[in-house]
Amino acid sequence: MSFLADSLARVKPSATIAVTQKARELKEAGRDVIGLGAGEPDFDTPDNIKEAAIAAIRRGETKYPPVAGIAPLKKAVAEKFKRENRLDYKPEQVIVGTGGKQVLYNAFVATLNPGDEVLIPAPYWVSYPEMVALNGGESRFVECPIETGFKLTPEALDKAITKRTKWLMFNAPSNPSGAAYSAKELKALTDVLLKHPHVWVLTDDMYEHLLYTDAPFATIAEVEPKLYERTLTMNGVSKTYAMTGWRIGYGAGPKPLIDAMVMIQGQQTSGACTIAQWAATEALTGTQDFVPKFKRAFQERRDLVVSMLNQATGLKCPMPEGAFYVYPSCAGTIGKKAPSGNRIATDEDFCRELLEAEGVAVVHGSAFGLGPNFRISYATSAPVLEEACTRIQRFCNALN
Ligand SMILES: Cc1ncc(COP(=O)(O)O)c(C=O)c1O
Repeated sequence: MSFLADSLARVKPSATIAVTQKARELKEAGRDVIGLGAGEPDFDTPDNIKEAAIAAIRRGETKYPPVAGIAPLKKAVAEKFKRENRLDYKPEQVIVGTGGKQVLYNAFVATLNPGDEVLIPAPYWVSYPEMVALNGGESRFVECPIETGFKLTPEALDKAITKRTKWLMFNAPSNPSGAAYSAKELKALTDVLLKHPHVWVLTDDMYEHLLYTDAPFATIAEVEPKLYERTLTMNGVSKTYAMTGWRIGYGAGPKPLIDAMVMIQGQQTSGACTIAQWAATEALTGTQDFVPKFKRAFQERRDLVVSMLNQATGLKCPMPEGAFYVYPSCAGTIGKKAPSGNRIATDEDFCRELLEAEGVAVVHGSAFGLGPNFRISYATSAPVLEEACTRIQRFCNALN
């Protein structure tokens, strides 16, 4: 009998962290490896944000924060929702967590009973099903194939809802596919949700500012105000402001839900790092000048990667509309023989052989619930991406 909890049997470690770790180990062992697994911008946190943290330390802002978040940050979050998303949230409807990840986790702890279902469009961010499982819920996956641009359709949503559905876990622009939705597309989904009043929506808007379409970003509670009372809108500073290591995310929603999440956080972390909260306050209230600059750089890299991957034999790479990932299909390589002599039967084989032959670390699609595909994070410099794609082309063209 194991000393460890039974619930661990239901949970897998993060595949994206595993690939990043593997690439790091190979590099340390002297291999020439390009890691495209990690989902974090390569840019440094802007100076005004760093300075705000340093000033906070100097002022002695080094004590426990209020559990839900420091008042200036909650106010800045409420103003951000008003300014950018036309959503009215009072500061007491806001929770600040240790990354967006903790906000999601708190929401599941606060709401899931055994057997409750969470609808997760696939491909999905690796952590959703594991968080659901850890909290006794059941994930119900809705396949969103390449043919629909990896997007959830109203028909698929309607069909997947059961009496036990508690949440729709919605993420756009999507990690890993980059799929994004116009307000009109969202409205078609919210129309379905209006027919099912027991279903709440947890919308993960983490990549809001990395959207390359002409249509502006829209979020669920904005396009359908009738869903305001059953939507938790989650977002954070990690991706937009190159602040992954500061660990600040936030959410806003109906007060009873936020109160429950705050209660849980009070027994867990007592709130997110005070200094990082001051930095996040500056991120949301200070200059936004670098946001479009980051976005432009990502868009150029996306165009480069998509074009180069589509020149590799057996790969098909749709043009993603947002985030900093591409999610090409490697169906055309399945059944072929790699330089090692092994046959490629799955996307996991493809990624392992690619790493072995060319030293390029990418994450297999089966980890995100839809394949045969793989995910490349293009949040790295253009020369590195060009070299990585050249190696991928060489690898694919040599398969036979
Ligand atoms: C879709 C999505 N949601 C949430 C997160 C977590 O964000 P944070 O770093 O703020 O915890 C990530 C990070 O990779 C993500 O891709």
